[in-house]
Amino acid sequence: MCGIVGYIGSQQAAPILLDGLEKLEYRGYDSAGIAVYDSGEVSMAKSKGRLKVLNEITHGGETMPGTLGIGHTRWATHGSPSDINAHPHFNKEKSIVVVHNGIIENYLKLKKKLEKKGYSFMSETDTEVIAHLLDHYYDGNPLRAVTKIMHRMEGSYALGIIFRDHPDELYAVRKDSPLIVGHTDGGSIIASDVPAVLKYTRDVYFIENEEIVRLKKDSMEFFTVDEEPIEKECVRIEWDVNAAEKGGYEHFMLKEMNEQPKAITDTFSPRIKEGKIVIEELNMSAEEIQDIDKIMIVACGSAYHTGVTSKYVFEGLARIPVEVDLASEFRYRKPILNERTLVVVISQSGETADTLAALRESKKQGARVLGIVNVVGSSIAREADNVMYTWAGPEIAVATTKAYSAQLIALYLLAMKFAYERGQMKDEVLQEMLEDLKALPSQVEMLLNNKSKIQRFANRYLAARDVFFIGRGVDYAISLEGSLKLKEISYIHSEAYAAGELKHGTISLIEEGTLVAAVLTQKELYKKMLSNMVEVSTRGAFVLAVTNEGNTEVERAADYVVYIPETNRYFTNSLAIIPLQLFGYYIAVGRGCDVDKPRNLAKSVTVE
Ligand code: F6R
Repeated sequence: MCGIVGYIGSQQAAPILLDGLEKLEYRGYDSAGIAVYDSGEVSMAKSKGRLKVLNEITHGGETMPGTLGIGHTRWATHGSPSDINAHPHFNKEKSIVVVHNGIIENYLKLKKKLEKKGYSFMSETDTEVIAHLLDHYYDGNPLRAVTKIMHRMEGSYALGIIFRDHPDELYAVRKDSPLIVGHTDGGSIIASDVPAVLKYTRDVYFIENEEIVRLKKDSMEFFTVDEEPIEKECVRIEWDVNAAEKGGYEHFMLKEMNEQPKAITDTFSPRIKEGKIVIEELNMSAEEIQDIDKIMIVACGSAYHTGVTSKYVFEGLARIPVEVDLASEFRYRKPILNERTLVVVISQSGETADTLAALRESKKQGARVLGIVNVVGSSIAREADNVMYTWAGPEIAVATTKAYSAQLIALYLLAMKFAYERGQMKDEVLQEMLEDLKALPSQVEMLLNNKSKIQRFANRYLAARDVFFIGRGVDYAISLEGSLKLKEISYIHSEAYAAGELKHGTISLIEEGTLVAAVLTQKELYKKMLSNMVEVSTRGAFVLAVTNEGNTEVERAADYVVYIPETNRYFTNSLAIIPLQLFGYYIAVGRGCDVDKPRNLAKSVTVE
C-alpha cells in the first residue's frame, strides 16, 4: 500500500513525480503529496483525495520548480486521510523530508522518546517519526543518519529522503516494502513499482531488504546497513509500456478482463513442449515430485481462491493431500511442515505482506517453497526457492481478473505435472487435458464477447441489497471469487457458500427478490445443485445460473442462465469466472462506482 517516487536530475522534478504517482495510484489513493528542493528550500504540496487534486493545485507540477523531489500516494494506516497526514513529512526545520511506504511498528515507543527530547508532532502518522528520528541522528552525514534509524525502526519501509543540505543527493532505503531505482536520461529515479519508471528507463535495480541507495544526477551507489558499498546487477524490464495504459478502454478492469485469453496463453504455452508439461523453473526431478507428501497452498484474497480451486484439482488428479490456508492465518496456527511438504504461495503483486511472511515461515521450517507470482523480481519471486511466473503482464485495476486467470492456469499445469510424474495420469488423459487447456483462450474470448447480455442483466440488479453465490466442489471455489469481485467494486453485500451449507443457517436470509448466483458445472453434483436452486427459488430468490452448454434443464430452476462451453471438469472455473467478473463489473459501472479504485482498497497489500 502507498506508492513512493523520487527524482534527481536535470529536468523539472514535479511533473515527473506526478506522472510516476499516477502509475502508482493503484497502491493507495486517499491523499497525495510531493516535496521539491529549489534554491536552498524544500517546498511541499499535498492534499487529501485523488492525485488529480494535487495535479490541479500544482498545475501539473509547473508551479514547483526544482530538479530534486519525492512524492507519495497514500493508503492510510495511521491517521485518517487528511492534508496533514498526507506525505511527505518534515522535521521541524524543514531540512529533512521523507516519503514512506510501510508501517513502523514501534513508532509509538520512538515517538515518546522523541517527545521527551523536545520533538513535537503535527500528524498522526508513523512516518513523521522517521523525519524527526533522522533529524535526531543527523550530524552532517546523511548516510550515517539513515543507517542509524534503520537500527532503531521495526516494521516495514521503503523510504525516499531529501536532506536540504545535500541537494545533489536523493536517498532511498527499503525493508519489506518494494523499491526499485533506475537511471533516466540525465537523472535517476526511484519508485515502488515498475510502471512508474517505464517511461524513463527499462533498466532497473531491485533494492533488497536493508539496502540503501544514494542517487545523484548521473550516478547511484548502494550500501548495506553497515555503510559497506555493494555492487548490484541491473535487470532489464521487457514489459510493453502500453500494457500499463488503458488503451482506449473505459477502465483498466475492462481492459484486463479482455486480456485474459492472452494471459492464459502466455502462461501455458511456454510450458507445453511436445505433448509434455515442462516446468523448468520448478527444478524438481520426478523422484522429488514423488517424494512430496503434502502440498500447502497459502495466499490472500483472490489468489487464495485459486488455491481453493486447485485443492480440488490436485487432490482429484494427483491424489496428494492439499491444505489451503489464508496467509494471514497460516503462521499463527503453527502449521506442520517438513522437507517433504511443498508450500505453494500465490501472489499477483509478489509483495503481499502476509504471503511473504508465510513464505519465510515455511522456509524456516524446512519446507520447499514455490512461488506463483506475476510481478517479476518482486519480493516473493526473489525469496521463494523456485518461482513460476504467471505471464499476465502488469495488472493495474485493484480487482484482479487476468492475474487470477493466469494463476489458475499455472496451478492446473502444476497439478497435471504432479499427477503425471506420480503415475496418476495416463498419457492419453494428459493429451486430452492439454487439448482442453489450449482451447480455453478462445472459449474465454467467446464468453467475453457476450458481455452486452450480462450488462443488460446486471442493469436490472443495480439496486440489489444482498447477493449469494453458491456452488459445490470447484464451483464453490468460483463462488468465492464471484462474490468477492461483486462486493469489492460495487459495494453490494454478497457472500459465497458451499451450496450444501445453505440449509445450516444462511437460507433464513433468502426472501422475495434476493439474488442468488448458482454455479453448476460438475456433472456428479448437478442434481444436488438443482435441488439447492429450487430450495432458494421457492423462497422467493431470483436465480442466476452459470452452467455447461446442454444443461437446459437448469432453465426450470433458474430465472436467467449463462452457458459456458464444454471443457475438462477441472478447468470450468476458468470459464465460469468470466460472466461473474462481467456481472460484478457492470453492476459497479451502473452504480457509478470507481471500478478501478474501489474505496478503502489498494492493489498491493504490503501491511499485515
Ligand atoms: C481481489 C484482489 C485481492 C488480491 C489479494 C492478494 O480482487 O485482487 O483479493 O487477490 O490482495 O494479492 P496478491 O495476489 O498481490 O498477493
